[in-house]
Amino acid sequence: MRRPPEGVLVLVRRTVRMPLAAAALTSLALAAGLASSPVAGAAPDGRAKDRAAPTRVDAYPIVVGHRGASGYRPEHTLESYRLAIAMGADYIEPDVVSTSDGVLVARHENEISGTTDVFTRPEFADRQTTKTIDGKALTGWFTEDFTLAELKTLRAKERIPELRQENTLYDGRFPVPTLQEVVELAKTEGKRVGRTIGVYIETKHPTYFDSIGLSLEEPLLATLKRAGLDRQTAPVFLQSFETGNLRELDTLTKLPLVQLLGGGSGGPADRTGTTYNELSTAAGLREIASYADGVGPDKNRVIPRTAAGTLGTPTSLVADAHAVGLLVHPYTFRNENVFLPTDLRVGTAPDDYGKAFAEYEAFFRAGIDGLFSDNPDTAVAARDAFNASAQRPAA
Ligand code: G3P
Ligand code: CA
Repeated sequence: MRRPPEGVLVLVRRTVRMPLAAAALTSLALAAGLASSPVAGAAPDGRAKDRAAPTRVDAYPIVVGHRGASGYRPEHTLESYRLAIAMGADYIEPDVVSTSDGVLVARHENEISGTTDVFTRPEFADRQTTKTIDGKALTGWFTEDFTLAELKTLRAKERIPELRQENTLYDGRFPVPTLQEVVELAKTEGKRVGRTIGVYIETKHPTYFDSIGLSLEEPLLATLKRAGLDRQTAPVFLQSFETGNLRELDTLTKLPLVQLLGGGSGGPADRTGTTYNELSTAAGLREIASYADGVGPDKNRVIPRTAAGTLGTPTSLVADAHAVGLLVHPYTFRNENVFLPTDLRVGTAPDDYGKAFAEYEAFFRAGIDGLFSDNPDTAVAARDAFNASAQRPAA
């Protein structure tokens, strides 16, 4: 197993508050290659943050099963997460939203017509409505208008059947899981396969849910606490595209926090006037390091495409983030041509697989600490091949 870059290790040893014995054990584990990617705790002023160091899985760089193994099963179902674990993912990734009775469930959006069969259910026809979420008008069915019991009667379906026809085989078979069920699955499957399986949880639309009295942060931490996972050394990351709820979480938990950095010209929904471009600069990353432990950038922020759509050359994002103690976990890696740079596509069918291994290799070579993938088996094979080679850059 490859070790994290030495510079990151130095940061961890220098800045993270922990009992001396624990610190010594961590250093030994890192030296022996037993620990995984560290969560560096350096604040921009060099002040130590009271936050966890290692992420407690036995691999580096980490592979996060994005919405489970969503390249092969309808996303955010227990079967998708279970498959991701079987394929070797180190973490599984639930996005969470709330039901009307305050239960967190795994969905990418609170509007669920794209990933469930709700629109086929006459009993819920009158729940269709139009709402403005993060400034955008949306018509559909929303989790916050369903109790958990009602939501549990729905069945998941493939989000992109035009690209992932084989996954439609499973349409109508799996219910929407609660966060608690996902966390329990990670623990039980982890025991079964003999590996620690982490949970990398994203809060979706936290300001919106606050505005309707269904705050996400408290039930999130309560669920983790019940599972014994709201503690400094738990294999958990908490992530958000917004900034305010990460700052709030920074006061509520010692778990490592990840600021997502969307692609394009947009910015956090809760911070009008600030763009992800600004947050991705060295100064922006320094600010993020005051409340978070890592960044989850759109992968094009790490290696942009050229004007022709081919894979370009790495930006300074990884080095700038590492310089202030932030981990870098880009998203989202997928095998299909349509998601790959033009020079890595094979043939012209958008749903055919392209040269995904070449893309992974370029990103691992750029020094990332982990990544989100819809195809965890490909990602793990690419990571292991990279680790078996000698290409990781010196810090
Ligand atoms: O959380 C990392 C990545 O999942 C962010 O994008 O839209 O797939 O949640 P999204
Ligand atoms: Ca996500």
